[in-house]
Amino acid sequence: MTENDFLPGSYGTLPQSGKVTWKAPSNIALVKYWGKRANQIPANPSISFTLDASATTTSVTYQKKEKETSDFSFDILLDGEPKADFKPKIKTFFERIEKYVPFLKSYDFTIETSNSFPHSSGIASSASGMAALALCLMDIEQKVAAEMGNDFFTKKASFLARLGSGSACRSIEGDLIQWGAHESIPESSDLFGIKYPFAVDSVFKNFHDTILLVHKGQKQVSSTVGHDLMHDHPFALKRFEQAHHNLDQLQGVFSNGDLEGFMALVESEALTLHAMMMTSRPSFILMKPDTLEIINKIWAYRAETKVPVCFTLDAGANVHVLYPESVKEQAIQFIQDELVAHCENGHYICDRIGNGARKLQ
Ligand code: DP6
Repeated sequence: MTENDFLPGSYGTLPQSGKVTWKAPSNIALVKYWGKRANQIPANPSISFTLDASATTTSVTYQKKEKETSDFSFDILLDGEPKADFKPKIKTFFERIEKYVPFLKSYDFTIETSNSFPHSSGIASSASGMAALALCLMDIEQKVAAEMGNDFFTKKASFLARLGSGSACRSIEGDLIQWGAHESIPESSDLFGIKYPFAVDSVFKNFHDTILLVHKGQKQVSSTVGHDLMHDHPFALKRFEQAHHNLDQLQGVFSNGDLEGFMALVESEALTLHAMMMTSRPSFILMKPDTLEIINKIWAYRAETKVPVCFTLDAGANVHVLYPESVKEQAIQFIQDELVAHCENGHYICDRIGNGARKLQ
C-alpha cells in the first residue's frame, strides 16, 4: 500500500454532531524505533508487545461548524481540565493528517482524554494518546465514507496514529505488532503496524511487564530530539542494520519459545537504544543510578536462580521488567523484595501483553 491508498474517496453527508470514545493501550518495543526520516518514516523496523493496563481513553465530541473556517477548532481536556500545552502537538497532528481525513476543518471538536497511569509517571502517553485519537477520527470517517472493511479501518487508524507519534501506530492492535518495512516480513510497511505474521510459542503469549517508575519527572530530552540526533550519528547505519538483523533473529526465538535468546536480544536492544543516546552529539543520558541498580539486580537474580526475568527500557529512566506467566509468583516476589526500593515513592505498574484498542460506548 502507498500513502495515496489512504486518501478518502467522496464522503456522504457529514453528521451534524456526535461523540465517539476509544481506549488504546500503550506498547513496549522489543526492537526499538530510534531514528526517522521525513513524514514519520522510521529509519528501521521495530516490534512491540501491546500492553493492557497502561492505556489512554479519549472521547471526541464533534459539532458541525456553522460555516467552515480555514482553522482547526478544538479544545482539549485531560482528566476534565483544559490542557492548553497539548494543543500544539494536536495541531501538528491535524496538519499532518488533514489530507487523509478532510472533514477536520468542518467541525468544532472537544477532545477529552485520560490515562490509566498518572500523568506524571514518566510513562509516555503519546503512543496510547495518538492511537486513541486516531481511532476516534476513523470512527467518524467510517460514518461518512463509502463501505469500509475492518482491515482498512485498522490499517488507516495505525497510519494516522503514526503521523501523530511513530510508536503510536503499534498501539491499535495486539498482541505483537511489527512496524517498518523488512525484507523477510511480508506485508511489513513503513506506513503502519501489522500483526506479527509468524509463529509465536505459547510461552510468549501471556508475558508480563512490570513497569518500575524510577523517575517520574519530565525527561531532559524528548524522543523527537533523540530521533533527530540519529541523523549525523556515527553509528546510525550499523544500528539500523542491527535492527533488521534482530528482527530476523526474533523469528526463530519466537517460534522455538527460546527465552534465553529473547532475553539476550531484548536487553541488548534496550542498552543499544541508550548507547545511541550516549554517543549522540550532543550526548545525553536518560538512565538514572537506580536504573542501573535495577539492571544489575536483574542480572544477578537471573544468574543465581535461572528464573527468566529480563528488562527493557523506553526513552527514559523507567525499567520494564519482562517475564512469562509461568514464573509470575517468583518474579513479583523478587520485584517487591529487591527492585521496588529503587522506584520513586515505591511506585510501579503491573502490566501484561494485551489485545489492542477497543471502542467504548
Ligand atoms: C524509545 O514514537 O515517541 O520508545 O515519532 O517522535 O513521536 P515520535 O517518537 P516516539 O519514539 C519512541 C521511541 C522508543 C522506541 C519505540 O517505541 O520503538
